[in-house]
Amino acid sequence: MSIDLAVVPVAGLGTRLLPLTKSQPKEMLAVGRKPVAQYVTEELANSGIRRLLFITGPGKASIENHFDIDGELIAYLRRTGREEELAELDFVHQEQMLYFYTRQRRQLGLGHAVLCAKPLVGDQPFVVALGDSMIGRHAQSDIVKRMIAAFERDKRPEEERMVVAFEEVPREEVCRYGIAIPETSGNEFRLRGLIEKPSVEEAPSNLAVAARYVFSPGIFRYLEATKPGRGGEIQLTDAMDAMIKAGATAIGIKLSAEEKRFDIGNFESYFESFLEFALADERHGAALRKRAREILKEFGE
Ligand code: UTP
Repeated sequence: MSIDLAVVPVAGLGTRLLPLTKSQPKEMLAVGRKPVAQYVTEELANSGIRRLLFITGPGKASIENHFDIDGELIAYLRRTGREEELAELDFVHQEQMLYFYTRQRRQLGLGHAVLCAKPLVGDQPFVVALGDSMIGRHAQSDIVKRMIAAFERDKRPEEERMVVAFEEVPREEVCRYGIAIPETSGNEFRLRGLIEKPSVEEAPSNLAVAARYVFSPGIFRYLEATKPGRGGEIQLTDAMDAMIKAGATAIGIKLSAEEKRFDIGNFESYFESFLEFALADERHGAALRKRAREILKEFGE
C-alpha cells in the first residue's frame, strides 16, 4: 500500500506572531476563508494521505475541534435551510480522513515534535508536513504525491530513504532556512546533506527546505541521537543530515513556479499570504481587488 500517513507538527509557540497567538494556535489563523491547518489537510488529502497525526501542545485544542464533526452546528444549518454554509463544512476526501492527536509535552523543537510521533508511526514510512506552511495558492499542489512516488520508486526494502521538498530563495535569504547541499542538479536531484541557516558565503545552494518531507522510520533513530542545538532545540535538519551521512538515499524535489510556499510564521509572510489568498478568492476577490486599488491610491502608490 502507498504511504497514506502524515505527521503534522503544530506544537510551536508562535512567539513571532504575538500577541495574535497568545491564546490561539498560529496554525488556526485565517488565510482568506479558511484556517491554515485546513489548507494543509486539504493539500495532503489531495495527495492520497488518509491518516493525519497532529503533534499538538497546550492551547491547541481548537485544531481538534475544527476537524471534528459538529452535530449541533450541522443540525442547525440543516434546520434553517443554510445549504451553502453546510457545504462549506466539507472538503474533498473529508469523509475518508482519520485524525489522531498526541502532545509534545516539552518545547524542544521541531525534531523533538517529529520524534513524539514514533510510538504511533512505528515501522512504516511517513510524510511530515509543517502545520504553519501552505504549498501553492489555496493549497493547489500535489507536491506530496510526487514526493511519495519518488520515495517508492525502485526502493529496496531495507534501504533508508528520505525525500525533501525545496524552493529556490534569493541568495541573501539563505540564512533563514535549512539549505540543500545538492549532489546532482535538476528538478529532482540527489542530496549530499543539509546545512541549517548558513551564511550567504558558506551556503552551498539557494535551495531551502520547504516544509514537506517523506521519511523511512529510520529517521527516529537519528532524532534520538541528535543533541539539542540552537536554542536548546532538537533540529530536524541535524538528524536528516546525520541520516544522509550514514548512507541514506536522499532525494530533493523542487517546487514548481506555481507552487509558492506560504509560511505564516512571521507577520510579513502572514500578511502576504492573507492578501494573496483573499485577492484570489473566487467569491470575494474581484471586489477586494477593486477596493485594494483605491486603498493603494490613498497611500499614494
Ligand atoms: P517554527 O520553527 O516556526 O517554531 O515551527 P514556532 O515555535 O512555532 O514559532 P516561533 O519561532 O516561536 O514564532 C514550524 C512548525 O513546527 C512546529 C510549529 O507548530 C510549526 O507548525 N513546532 C515547532 C512544533 O510542533 N514543536 C516545536 O517545538 C517547534
